[in-house]
Amino acid sequence: MADVRAELEPIERAGVDELRAVQLERLRWSLRHAYEHVPHYRAAFDAAGVHPDDCRSLADLARFPLTTKEDLRQRYPFGMFAVPRERIARLHASSGTTGRPTLVGYTAADVRTWARLVARSIRAAGGRPGDRVHVAYGYGLFTGGLGAHYGAEELGCTVIPVSGGMTERQALLIRDLAPDIIMVTPSYLLAILDELERQGVDPRGTTLRTGIFGAEPWTGDMRAELERRAGIDAVDIYGLSEVMGPGVACECVETKDGPHLWEDHFYPEVIDPETGAVLPDGEPGELVLTSLTREAMPVVRYRTRDLTRLLPGTARAMRRMERVTGRTDDMIILRGVNLFPTQIEELILRVPGLSPHFQCVLDRHGRLDALTVRVERRADTPADGAEEAGRALVRLVKSTIGVTVAVDVTGPGAVERSTGKMRRVLDRRPPR
Ligand code: DLL
Repeated sequence: MADVRAELEPIERAGVDELRAVQLERLRWSLRHAYEHVPHYRAAFDAAGVHPDDCRSLADLARFPLTTKEDLRQRYPFGMFAVPRERIARLHASSGTTGRPTLVGYTAADVRTWARLVARSIRAAGGRPGDRVHVAYGYGLFTGGLGAHYGAEELGCTVIPVSGGMTERQALLIRDLAPDIIMVTPSYLLAILDELERQGVDPRGTTLRTGIFGAEPWTGDMRAELERRAGIDAVDIYGLSEVMGPGVACECVETKDGPHLWEDHFYPEVIDPETGAVLPDGEPGELVLTSLTREAMPVVRYRTRDLTRLLPGTARAMRRMERVTGRTDDMIILRGVNLFPTQIEELILRVPGLSPHFQCVLDRHGRLDALTVRVERRADTPADGAEEAGRALVRLVKSTIGVTVAVDVTGPGAVERSTGKMRRVLDRRPPR
């Protein structure tokens, strides 16, 4: 690869001291902006007895109140906006499936910042101007499609705006248009790879070089699976609508050691989800993000509900976050043991004969909750081999997580496919 560092933006080459100085200046602006223009923040700061002028160091941020998704929901649709309505250039919404969505607004400058950060992310993942980028994230209120689109365009790539769905056509377009990069959820790429195979194409033989995967939790074992099956580098991109969309953080292809947070635009903290106390870097907890440059909808200490740890920078001085293991609200509590679908994914991928297409089905038998892992056998595994694979998974879950689950190994194609975010947990328990 050409001299990668020479292509970086100056702030990506900056040292930690310079970065912290930029952050403090921007943080003070952002707190003031929120306080002066969003009644919710003014009331919340006043109630906590803090004023933006009290923020003299980055550590002072811990004195400011946390913001939750519920705070945003209650002020739906426009109550969290900090600029007059006519300055809003774009609206998106979070992908919640129930109740009111959370609306997110962007000024024209916010849309440009977002495009630049996604361009930075694609470049970190190995993309270069002139590359062809197949975008298979959904277009619409969801931030995935348009976020990836503007970023790829900003970098100078040729964008192929396919959106999610019509899997047969996805495979056809990959064959005919010869993209270098695909941006897609990891679970949906699996479906596209199956479809390529069905069409008689070896997925390793396509022009794809890189996949930029996010919008749902995935594991290191899934990375290995995607890289092996598609012959690509699989890179993790993280983001959430409330804070911007994709491109809050992205892995660098040369290290693949967890997404680097783009700290010149977002200030990260990790808190204990029970007490709200800020934890030192390296400790696992809930990620909290504060926007440093957003105009339309600043967020102050927004609780993402994503569980991770902050790690020191490697390819960049900016800190990394460990791959998100799950959301506080995805956690399954089974007979007193906490578990996440990603733990099940990891174990499935260690059992030969089982494919990564799976779902966790929760039922209640009498007063006891029961978890059944529905997982497909691999296409090249015969049905009788699948039974032994199922028993192996039961043993592995028991010995590593410590709970007994049922495993239902199905034929290929039996587990519901998603064209975007995969719903890993199917909760069939009646309400108590
Ligand atoms: O999913 C934004 C996005 C689109 C990110 C495309 C990456 C790629 P939301 O729909 O608001 O926005 O969902 C945000 O998805 O809080 C995480 O729980 C989860 N998530 C996003 N990226 C990752 C990732 C988009 N790389 C929620 N790993 C977040 C694990 C992720 N979880």
